[in-house]
Amino acid sequence: MSDGVWAAPGRVNLIGEHTDYNDGFVMPFALPHTTVVTAARRDDGVLRLHSANVEGGAVELRVGDLAPGRGAGGWTDYPAGVVWALREAGHPAAGADLHYESTVPTGAGLSSSAALEVVTALALNDLYELGLERCRMARLCRRAENVYVGAPTGIMDQTASACCTDGHALHLDTRDLSQRQIPFDLAALGLELLVVDTRVKHAHSDGEYGKRRAGCEAGAAALGVPALRDVPYEGLARALDRLDDPEVRGLVRHVVTENHRVERVIGLLEAGEVRAIGPVLTEGHASLRDDFRVSCPELDLVVDTALAAGALGARMTGGGFGGSAIVLTDAPTTPTVTKSVLEAFASAGHAEPRIFPATPSRGATRVS
Ligand code: GLA
Repeated sequence: MSDGVWAAPGRVNLIGEHTDYNDGFVMPFALPHTTVVTAARRDDGVLRLHSANVEGGAVELRVGDLAPGRGAGGWTDYPAGVVWALREAGHPAAGADLHYESTVPTGAGLSSSAALEVVTALALNDLYELGLERCRMARLCRRAENVYVGAPTGIMDQTASACCTDGHALHLDTRDLSQRQIPFDLAALGLELLVVDTRVKHAHSDGEYGKRRAGCEAGAAALGVPALRDVPYEGLARALDRLDDPEVRGLVRHVVTENHRVERVIGLLEAGEVRAIGPVLTEGHASLRDDFRVSCPELDLVVDTALAAGALGARMTGGGFGGSAIVLTDAPTTPTVTKSVLEAFASAGHAEPRIFPATPSRGATRVS
């Protein structure tokens, strides 16, 4: 297979947050922002990595030396981790020259790392004719992130980058990985979905994410179920009565109600009641802020200000502790909402947020 160019997008998650490591439901869509790799196969055991977005020259690694815990701790761990995961799974990836260029904002909760992983997997899959399905590539990319990079994330971001399609949100059941593409064409309805990057940097390997995950596992164990997915919404009050630790109760309440919110959003989208998803998104934010405790003052400020300025709904998106929020608007109100958020940030003395409309875009693809 000849050398070429591949692209993989970042994502926002419409609804279904912190559910993916609880075997629950998520609903991301791909952003138009992508990480592009120009890749050439080489069979001499060398992986040469270069990024136009990062100062400094190319990094050369020997594929045979790649192992968890031996990474450099920077951006190269993501592609190196993918090569490690491919080889560990028995796929012959014997080296490559990989040059990256990305428009996905980093540390903004928009899955720049998943884009980097997925584009690497896609390129190597073609260069080495591995014949891997997209779902399988997403799983290997998650393994790279969990084991090689050391961030205990779920499967949502890699699947979104690998499997989303233009004009759709992806309804993913993270237990059996079954997928449905749900039409999500806001422009046709005069609606817009804004992404507000607070510029508060977040990282998933820094402990708080892992603590939430451990708390969810403790909740499932205390309730005697394999995962919080198995606590039915109708049985939530009974389940909460059986939990002593108030923190764990909050985590369980969030996950169970959030899975239910995904189902409600799908029901509304399928019924054509798209505007009505707004309040469900806002409820999701309150749950992440109060029960799951992964919001931050800047994210709360976006949500409160946008709603006061007439937005239909708003919530943080992604892992939280910074990163981005999404805001659903009637398109004519977008300028007012945007202005209000910018002014609120300026008066609070926060850095200026980056605000842009998000259109559901295609997943990873070969460009040439
Ligand atoms: C991060 C992780 C995902 C998911 C979200 C929260 O984006 O990478 O796996 O857990 O946080 O929904």
